[in-house]
Amino acid sequence: MRTIRVCQTDDLADQGKLVVEVGDLQIGVFRLGDEFFAWKNRCPHQGGPVCQGRIYNKVFEKIDAEQKSRGRDYDAGVTHIVCPWHGLEFDIRTGKFAGASDKDIMNLDGYPTQVQDGEVYVLV
Ligand code: FES
Repeated sequence: MRTIRVCQTDDLADQGKLVVEVGDLQIGVFRLGDEFFAWKNRCPHQGGPVCQGRIYNKVFEKIDAEQKSRGRDYDAGVTHIVCPWHGLEFDIRTGKFAGASDKDIMNLDGYPTQVQDGEVYVLV
């Protein structure tokens, strides 16, 4: 396993991302608060560049006691990347497909990250 320096921590804003090339690999590195996550830039659906998608907090529908919709809202605690090819969403913290988070059938492939002395590293 190789340790690859990606950037300085300050180079990524909260909910920011950076796609880097490591040999034949493209890896998306994401920042959520003080945590960093790294995912292969290949969507498990049909191979799209998932890490180049837009970042949103999870959207959920508000349902009242009578089971009627009261509109949509954002979950500030769950952040998704949206694949630009067909719009499937993945949790940036876990890499899990948002449409079936209880199953491991279609999740992102990830890499460990390390932060040391203000530098972000990915272990490939
Ligand atoms: S290739 Fe990513 S959603 Fe289809």
